[in-house]
Amino acid sequence: MSTAEDMAEMPVQLPREPANAAQARSRYFNSGNAFNIKLPPVPGHIFVDEPAAALKMEKTGFIDCDQSASMQCAFPATTPLMLARYAVVKAGETLDTTLSNTASIWYVIEGSADLSIGEEKAALGKGDVFLLPGGTASSIAARQDGVLWAVGNDPQLKFDASVPVTGAEAAVQFVHYPAGEIAHQLDVVYNRNANADTSGHALIFSAEKTVAARNITPTMTLSLNTLKPRSEQPPHKHNSAAITLVVAGEPAYSMVAEQKCDWSPWATLVTPPAAKHSHHNHGSTRAEFLIVQDGGFYYHARTMGFEFY
Ligand SMILES: [Fe+2]
Repeated sequence: MSTAEDMAEMPVQLPREPANAAQARSRYFNSGNAFNIKLPPVPGHIFVDEPAAALKMEKTGFIDCDQSASMQCAFPATTPLMLARYAVVKAGETLDTTLSNTASIWYVIEGSADLSIGEEKAALGKGDVFLLPGGTASSIAARQDGVLWAVGNDPQLKFDASVPVTGAEAAVQFVHYPAGEIAHQLDVVYNRNANADTSGHALIFSAEKTVAARNITPTMTLSLNTLKPRSEQPPHKHNSAAITLVVAGEPAYSMVAEQKCDWSPWATLVTPPAAKHSHHNHGSTRAEFLIVQDGGFYYHARTMGFEFY
């Protein structure tokens, strides 16, 4: 009878007599113990305290939607690969928006401000969307009290201990989508019929540099989804995680993994990877919600796994 322990119970295996420091740094696992780490699931959650705190306009700075503790993640993260945050910029003050990510996708909830990034400048107003390349010095100077929402792939870079590539080789450029133009482009979509496989009318944001992939950044997608009064998006799932900003919808809610998440103004909803979800507008006005997903990542890896129920 063998007294050998199950290989799944074995600790890490070390080199016997390393000849140098590089050999000493080697470690070995086996087919029993290398693949049985159980990570906690990504929580499905709707952040309502963070937008409420941001809208109080107490202090210029960021308020993260951070679930890193419950995901056992060593750095701030809303989902494993993305971080959402609210940015508060009080009138007359400036917020440094230089972030360590490939890109961040921004939405202006309240206020007007002057953005400066590298050599470029833009006047921002309520309802504007913009895309900031990471690692390039940028700042927002508020003319009126401002609250913004931003999602970046900061955790993806932290996970891989990588830094953004800047300049001509950067994955994205600064792009500005003014509110008036977004409304016009959405009207263009609304004037066409949705086919049976399309849920609601959505405007998908892209940019010159990423137009071939129809994405806004290589790994992230941005969609302004709408639901007509008293309509719903059917239940479906995908392997990408989604971070959704509630822009308009009263009353409206989402079902995420059989849990009801009531919408409230400017809340941030997290849809975990592969979770069944659906969005429901019970109101008499159009519901609008801005969805960032790490869909480019999964699409590239051929693992999107989109399915309707
Ligand atoms: Fe979805």
